[in-house]
Amino acid sequence: MSDFLDLARRRYSVRTYLPQPVEAEKLERILEAGRVAPTAKNNQPHRILIVQSPEGLEKLTKCTNVQGYPLGIVVCGVQSEAWVSPFDPNKNSLETDTSIVATHMLLEATALGLGSCWMARFEPERLREAFNIPEGIVPEHTFSPSATRRAKRSRPIAMTRCASLLRLPSSGNIFRNGAPPSVHRGQPPSTH
Ligand SMILES: Cc1cc2nc3c(=O)[nH]c(=O)nc-3n(C[C@H](O)[C@H](O)[C@H](O)COP(=O)(O)O)c2cc1C
Repeated sequence: MSDFLDLARRRYSVRTYLPQPVEAEKLERILEAGRVAPTAKNNQPHRILIVQSPEGLEKLTKCTNVQGYPLGIVVCGVQSEAWVSPFDPNKNSLETDTSIVATHMLLEATALGLGSCWMARFEPERLREAFNIPEGIVPEHTFSPSATRRAKRSRPIAMTRCASLLRLPSSGNIFRNGAPPSVHRGQPPSTH
């Protein structure tokens, strides 16, 4: 098994793709990675829309700022199937569940040597109309696992260092930059 941290570091947002279709076996593996993702109470409120036809891709690329991918995936959530918090009836797990599913699939795409970009910049109603998605099913995330010439990031991107994750000594909470000044700075968070 390859090292997960290596895989996580390898992933980056690819926005230039080769036109060749993604092999069926690779697509199956991506879907399988989504299938085994955890969801709140195992409710599995997600539905996956696979976009591969030229007409479908034309519609999808009109909704996203990234272009030229031969495979698009839309992770949708069924509102009525999401777990609802017993402590707050307005809070449900739909976004969280579908994000985990999308992340599983995105990382499997990386493991398969494909590039992809998470594309949240779309108008949900426009996408719903384009693909006839029924009311009650929310298009939550789109991404584009496809072959690329540049499987590696060409220049490093600034990511916050672990040491900038701050732990409040009294509460044990972890804050990122901008935490209150009383916070003990510079220590990597310890685990309990
Ligand atoms: C939830 C989410 C939504 C994103 N939406 C878009 C998007 O609509 N368009 C885009 O070009 N990139 C999008 N990205 C990519 C981010 O800009 C990118 O992940 C971030 O800049 C870090 O770069 P990296 O992915 O190369 O590490 C999105 C990423 C995430 C996690």
